[in-house]
Amino acid sequence: MVVRPRDPQRQDAPADGTFGDGQMGWLGGLGNVRNVVRQEMISRQLGKHLPAPPARVLDVGAGQGTQSIRLARAGYQVLAVEPDPTMRGVFLAGLSAQPAGLQHRVTLRQGSVGSLGAVTGGEVYDVVLLLGVLMYLQASEPVIAELAAHVAPGGFLALAARTATSALWRPAARQDWQAVLEAFGEQELALAEGRDMQYVNEIGAPARADDLGALTNAAARHGLVLENWYGVRIAVDPGELDPAPPSDPLELAALLDAEERLGSTDPYRHLGQLAHLILRRYQTVPAGT
Ligand SMILES: C[S@@+](CC[C@H](N)C(=O)[O-])C[C@H]1O[C@@H](n2cnc3c(N)ncnc32)[C@H](O)[C@@H]1O
Repeated sequence: MVVRPRDPQRQDAPADGTFGDGQMGWLGGLGNVRNVVRQEMISRQLGKHLPAPPARVLDVGAGQGTQSIRLARAGYQVLAVEPDPTMRGVFLAGLSAQPAGLQHRVTLRQGSVGSLGAVTGGEVYDVVLLLGVLMYLQASEPVIAELAAHVAPGGFLALAARTATSALWRPAARQDWQAVLEAFGEQELALAEGRDMQYVNEIGAPARADDLGALTNAAARHGLVLENWYGVRIAVDPGELDPAPPSDPLELAALLDAEERLGSTDPYRHLGQLAHLILRRYQTVPAGT
């Protein structure tokens, strides 16, 4: 990850509706350890909050469809929304390899944050997913407002976002001291300018880091209460950049279990490369919130 102090002339601030230069890097790394851990952690963490199937899931920025397909396999009805034709192509290729019964539970549509109503018709869902997308969009609160409007009473929004904490920690964990200092510089500048921290991520895409507290407060303003949050990818990140997962099944299982424990335990979860927030629309607001 490269963190660059902000230059007013720079062209690499996140621009809504794009995955930018990151797409090929993302698709090329799907089988590597970082994505294997990420997808498995997201699945396990979601599993602690999901209602029993069949419930209705809206997966926004579904990408290659990993979570949509897993949820359909478990019996959920999924509407997946993805703006990028290449990503939709990868999604459809993966979906077509699945049994017909699963395929019938997934609908994939072209669509974007900012105009979701055109795809959903304003319907509400038991579960709304926005996983690994927010950092590519210019600002969080309008996105949260739009997604919150699609969460049914009693349902939840699952949001996987980059946090400023992890954007500062990653170069330190890799002992890239210059990058650590640049990251702190960018964080201070962002604070002084009243904006979010920006950086270029490892797949070459300009991105934005959120403050966890600010995200939670924004969600609360739109009727969503933080039920729990998890770190995703805590210990696999700093080593060799992105190797294949361990070939020994026992070692892979231990790695996944260790990441799961770290991601749900303070202080380690703060260091996760993604923060995965479960934001619930309570039918009645719980006491003490
Ligand atoms: C890193 S991928 C994540 C894919 C998937 N959600 C996952 O977690 O595996 C980011 C995805 O966000 C999509 N995206 C970018 N801008 C978007 C927007 N404005 N609305 C919806 N999706 C968007 C990209 O096309 C890409 O498929």
